[in-house]
Amino acid sequence: MKDGLEDVIAAETVLSDVDGLAGRLTIRGEPLQTLAGRVSYEQVLSLLWDGFFPDLPHDLAPALGEARKAVFDMVRRELPLIADGPAYDAMRALMARLPDDTDLETALLLGAAPGAILPALLRLRAGETPLEPDPALGHAADMLRMIGGTVPKPEMAVALDTYLVTVADHGLNASTFAARVVASTQAGLNSSVLAALGALKGPLHGGAPGPVLDMLDAIGVPANAEPWIAAELARGERLMGFGHRIYRVRDPRADALKGALARLDKLNAINGARAALASRVEAVALAALKAHKPDRPLETNVEFYTALLLEAVGFQRDTFTAVFAAGRVGGWIAHAKEQAANGRLIRPKSRYVGPVPRVAA
Ligand code: SDX
Repeated sequence: MKDGLEDVIAAETVLSDVDGLAGRLTIRGEPLQTLAGRVSYEQVLSLLWDGFFPDLPHDLAPALGEARKAVFDMVRRELPLIADGPAYDAMRALMARLPDDTDLETALLLGAAPGAILPALLRLRAGETPLEPDPALGHAADMLRMIGGTVPKPEMAVALDTYLVTVADHGLNASTFAARVVASTQAGLNSSVLAALGALKGPLHGGAPGPVLDMLDAIGVPANAEPWIAAELARGERLMGFGHRIYRVRDPRADALKGALARLDKLNAINGARAALASRVEAVALAALKAHKPDRPLETNVEFYTALLLEAVGFQRDTFTAVFAAGRVGGWIAHAKEQAANGRLIRPKSRYVGPVPRVAA
């Protein structure tokens, strides 16, 4: 048995390649560095969805904008009834109300949904009226506008867009695998996305960025980084934002997001003390993890700088996983279509180690 299916190749895909030894992420032949901060989320959706929808428009921005508006209209009545719970759970429950087909219209609704629903939930949580999407804006800019009430500074929209592009797809991670398992039964795209949303929520996967900020808050000042991290590791705890099942070197997305943060810094949008603390904590964590697990490279993963970036563009930490879903949903949909098109039903075996029957049947 391969614990956690480690090193098992469970699918062939044209969508993305995660080279854990070289620390390279390729999306449809494009290295991450040519995409993050250079193309919009709509453009990376076009790249990922190309070939899976015969009626895919070349420019997805107008269609995604209209889809944000359609989703908002579909859920606006339920929004106030469900806004009190955790934003991620409320978003997932509302997404369950969307169609469960496999066509482009369904894909656009699901692709737009986190970006249309999450801002509305955050406005309600702040005691404000949700704002209708503006289809004329880009996805990232409209998300920030629907939260803050005004069109964001271009640098803020670019920072969020860079994040959505950076996390849009990443091989056969747990949530994408969940989406493929469901798609392999020929279920609809919404069923695949809902399965993926469940997997993403866990702290070992997409639930990690919020706890990165909790860690920075607990450490407080750079001088406290060493003792705090030593005590955490001594208790057998894991440091959020570090380690990866595939990467044995630094996750290339960490530097893509660090670059986006540096560009935001020109706006003085980054709290200097926070950035200095994060830099110290990263250095101390990497050294401590090397001593803690000398045989297992544990490098910075995507979540460490995700936490700083999403905080800088104004998201609260308990919504970071929902923002992760707003980016990754595009990848989930592409993988679901790819699995349904040319994959078989995913049904591995298990080895029975339970009690032997007392009497022969
Ligand atoms: C994402 O797969 C993807 O592509 C995921 C993702 C994506 O884009 O979809 O990249 C997004 O999920 C990034 C990871 C976010 N999670 C975290 O940052 C949580 C902290 N990281 C760890 O829990 C861990 O590194 C995992 C879950 C990410 C990977 O774990 P693995 O591959 O299952 O490795 P493991 O749990 O077997 O760890 C090997 C050893 C263990 O020690 P032993 O049990 O052998 O004694 O290393 C230790 C672990 O305890 N270890 C850590 C650690 N990560 C692993 N110890 C301290 N801190 C850590 N962060």
